Amino acid sequence: MVFNRMYARTPTPLFLTDDYLTGTVAKENNQSEKNNMEFFLDTGDVDEIRAAAAWGIVDGVTTNPSLIAKTGRSQKEVITEIIDIVDGPISAEVISTHKDGMLQEARQLAQIHENVIIKLPLTEDGISACGILSTEEIKTNVTLCFSANQALLAAKNGATYVSPFIGRLDDVGHDGMDLIEDIRTIYDNYGYATEILAASIRHPTHVRTAALMGADVATMPYKVMKNLFSNPLTDRGLEIFLADHARVN
Ligand code: E4P
Repeated sequence: MVFNRMYARTPTPLFLTDDYLTGTVAKENNQSEKNNMEFFLDTGDVDEIRAAAAWGIVDGVTTNPSLIAKTGRSQKEVITEIIDIVDGPISAEVISTHKDGMLQEARQLAQIHENVIIKLPLTEDGISACGILSTEEIKTNVTLCFSANQALLAAKNGATYVSPFIGRLDDVGHDGMDLIEDIRTIYDNYGYATEILAASIRHPTHVRTAALMGADVATMPYKVMKNLFSNPLTDRGLEIFLADHARVN
């Protein structure tokens, strides 16, 4: 699987040499090798975004109509405020269910700021709109993805991101992480540039497994991001260090 990934992302044929394995050849080909798993916050709550941004690990933000509704504010107002806090991709979802309406909303949202990513549902109209927006160089996040074939459709029409919903699959007795693994393999088989944005993350184990499966991004609620820091052994160890230091100072 690892060999497939490296090979599929390489624009010219390569042999399995030391240079190849260390990534030197990839650099010579000006190939962007991704060395960072990105963390996005999945929220419309600007206080949470400010708090998490202070940790220095927030690369972007995802919202959806439910998260925006919780704020009691307009989407435009919330997105504009988020843009001032986080300098990275900010997903804003369209409400229209028909292609023309999606395109109209998408073009308006894209005018707010270059960091706005248009979130489109994984429907026939959504995929069709995705293809058109990608020719206009408007970035997209195809959401509500629950199967590998759906993810393939998003990649074929040039989606910037695809959002497989891990937690919601787990909720109905599937293993959401199997989907991440399948999409990773399929995208790497063909060298699709669409980024896998693991969504509907419910706990730190989802983040760990998404990283092991090679997801490009994990979007998570504030509470989950905060929990990534937690370990009782860290707390206990720090207590002991500080107590020992205090005894002799
Ligand atoms: C992703 O972009 C979605 O907003 C989100 O992850 C959905 O998560 P949920 O299943 O917890 O609502």
